[in-house]
Amino acid sequence: MRILTFGAFDILHYGHMRLLERAAQRGDYLIVGLASDTLIASRGKPEPFYSFDIRREMLLHTRHVDEVVLHDGPVDGAGRVKLITEKVRLIRDMKIDEIVMGSDWAGEYDVFAQHCAVHYLDRTPGISTSCIRKQL
Ligand code: CTP
Repeated sequence: MRILTFGAFDILHYGHMRLLERAAQRGDYLIVGLASDTLIASRGKPEPFYSFDIRREMLLHTRHVDEVVLHDGPVDGAGRVKLITEKVRLIRDMKIDEIVMGSDWAGEYDVFAQHCAVHYLDRTPGISTSCIRKQL
């Protein structure tokens, strides 16, 4: 089973690690569609603390992630639809069997259910990149 998950994974923390560990256990090859720096900033969030290359490197140093691919897309008004198209292309090209996301995304990925299985995992409470940034 080839598993795909999406995210920014900035300032990698134990909530991310638990998500990645459980996602990896659902298959035998885990791919992360890692949001580009511009994609993150376009969602009304501050620029990532770590650049795409560093975030990618950190993920590949975990024992859960097999591959990291760039997840990028248009950030204009039609962005949402085009990002869906981009994700469908990834699912097809990477021969994905299942998308796994944290429960904060529950329902949001159901649109891909016609292309592969979609599964949500409980989010780890009490930790997030935004919360770390605030505390720092
Ligand atoms: N995640 C999780 N538990 C957490 C934080 C994140 O399971 N405590 C999961 C998310 O549900 C998502 C993935 O990790 O599937 C990547 O999340 P991301 O948005 O990069 O991390 P956050 O810490 O949620 O970042 P932010 O505070 O910017 O929203």
